[in-house]
Amino acid sequence: MKIGIIGSTGLVGSHLKRLLAAEHELYTPHHVALDITDTADVRAWCRSVQPDLVINCSAIDVDRCEREPQLAEAVNVTGPQALAHIAREHGASILHFSTNYVFDGKQHGHIYTQADATDAINVYGRTKRVGEEALLTANPQSYVIRTSWVFGTGKENFLSTVHRKLRAGERIRSIKDVWASATYVNDLAARTLEVLARRSYGLYHVVNAGVLNYLEFAEEAARLAHADTALIEQVSESDAQRLAERPRFTPMSCSLSAELGLPPLRDWRAALTAYIAEANPH
Ligand SMILES: NC(=O)c1ccc[n+]([C@@H]2O[C@H](COP(=O)([O-])OP(=O)(O)OC[C@H]3O[C@@H](n4cnc5c(N)ncnc54)[C@H](OP(=O)(O)O)[C@@H]3O)[C@@H](O)[C@H]2O)c1
Repeated sequence: MKIGIIGSTGLVGSHLKRLLAAEHELYTPHHVALDITDTADVRAWCRSVQPDLVINCSAIDVDRCEREPQLAEAVNVTGPQALAHIAREHGASILHFSTNYVFDGKQHGHIYTQADATDAINVYGRTKRVGEEALLTANPQSYVIRTSWVFGTGKENFLSTVHRKLRAGERIRSIKDVWASATYVNDLAARTLEVLARRSYGLYHVVNAGVLNYLEFAEEAARLAHADTALIEQVSESDAQRLAERPRFTPMSCSLSAELGLPPLRDWRAALTAYIAEANPH
């Protein structure tokens, strides 16, 4: 297939690029060459590439969405919607990523499936939800994959770096009262290829199994990295003073994958073990 990937330098995009490169003809423009918010450029790019599939991995972070809601709207709603329309005009399918932050997370203990109502509590979550709907309406050949707390090589976020910091003897602060599913980017990329192979369009949840908070993740990372857990300072979400409010309890499971015979991904602890082994191969 001819596949275009937007956001291919990011965490998810770079891993998809690596996996898809072996079997497909890839087009992976850098952000400066193709901005998803510029519809004329997106149209010209699709006309020149004539893709069979476009994968949208573009993103801006949660707090930036809160600070710049118009940009959030452009990156998360109008850009993907236009891309989906243009892809349809070319007979191409589209795969797009979304987030657990489409849920409000107010019901402690509840695991969200696709059947649950969405009610986002921040700009990122609200725009991602509107983007999902817009995309699924604009192109009947759409896959939307909601994922959560992604970690792996290629991004210096908390989950990806905590084992390294602890091993180096660095003190870290870890939030104890926000729970979700975590997702190893290698597992997300591999499952994305399995979803594409099924050619069954629709809305998926792709996360590693298990429910955790950041503190549990840090403690497990410390154990696996043979680091001292005394380096971990427990804090609450309110202590962390992040700009955008985060939903408190948003673990997910996937009803559609189960119907298609795709088993749940391995437990997050096994995935973290694999990641730390990959990051420190000896
Ligand atoms: N990471 C997570 O924990 C997580 C959790 C849930 C859902 N997701 C979703 O997963 C998807 C991928 O996220 P990620 O973590 O891989 O993001 P990321 O690492 O921040 O990468 C984002 C990519 O998008 C590019 N980009 C940003 N603005 C763009 C624009 N206007 N036009 C074109 N490209 C643009 C960036 O390029 P530059 O760096 O050059 O700007 C980068 O290549 C997103 O849909 C995100 O919402 C991620």
